[in-house]
Amino acid sequence: MNAKPPAIRCQNLVKIYEAGGQQVTALNGVDLDIAMGELMMLVGPSGCGKTTLISIIAGILDQTSGGCELFGENLLALRNKDKLLFRAENIGFVFQAYNLLPTLNAAENVSVPLIINGVKRAEAERRAKQILDKVGLGARTKALPAELSGGQQQRVAIARALIHDPRLIVCDEPTSALDHESGQKVMDILKAVALDHQRVLVIVTHDARIFNFADRIAEMDDGHILKVVNSAAKLK
Ligand SMILES: Nc1ncnc2c1ncn2[C@@H]1O[C@H](COP(=O)(O)OP(=O)(O)OP(=O)(O)O)[C@@H](O)[C@H]1O
Ligand SMILES: [Mg+2]
Repeated sequence: MNAKPPAIRCQNLVKIYEAGGQQVTALNGVDLDIAMGELMMLVGPSGCGKTTLISIIAGILDQTSGGCELFGENLLALRNKDKLLFRAENIGFVFQAYNLLPTLNAAENVSVPLIINGVKRAEAERRAKQILDKVGLGARTKALPAELSGGQQQRVAIARALIHDPRLIVCDEPTSALDHESGQKVMDILKAVALDHQRVLVIVTHDARIFNFADRIAEMDDGHILKVVNSAAKLK
């Protein structure tokens, strides 16, 4: 028997946004367990709640009701400062829109999580250059985000999510701007992280070219998980 708790446990998760006097139910009772060492992909049509779900899992957004535990912690119950510390140490997040800081160059952007965790600037930038090299950007470490292509910015965002070796890596469409070869290279790196370090990865994607990297794929629609399968061939 495996008595280990899952890395991520969502129970009857509900998220209702209130905007302009309207209510939008983005998650309508999501139950999902994700194990340590697992690479879970989330698929589903636009607006079905994928970004909302991973934002709650990563403690960026509070749920309306239901439970969400990450490594046994209920992030909702943590005080703001503790939550920020927990996230800085344990979570790497690749946002759908990259969210790079426009005035910092590539290496400086990638260094940010290390600096937040107390690493000296010179050491942080040395490690940032190493990881930028791994994602194929070793020659562009001094470029500002505006001087990089969409795919290059996306790889800077991925390097930033990995640099502090977090236990959870959450990626929102990490290969959307990448050609086939760069996409496979990035997925090789992410997959190796899950396998070697007993980390956990949650990846939102529409990109069928990367489905084969998943351990499991959860299909969402309209705020629900429709099914969870072990291989993309079983999705339809
Ligand atoms: N801040 C917000 N305020 C109000 N409604 C929101 C907000 N963010 C998302 N929504 C709504 O919640 C629902 C789920 O949105 P979400 O961004 O989670 O979808 P998604 O599956 O990530 O879509 P996409 O594939 O287009 O990125 C949508 O109907 C969306 O319009
Ligand atoms: Mg989204």
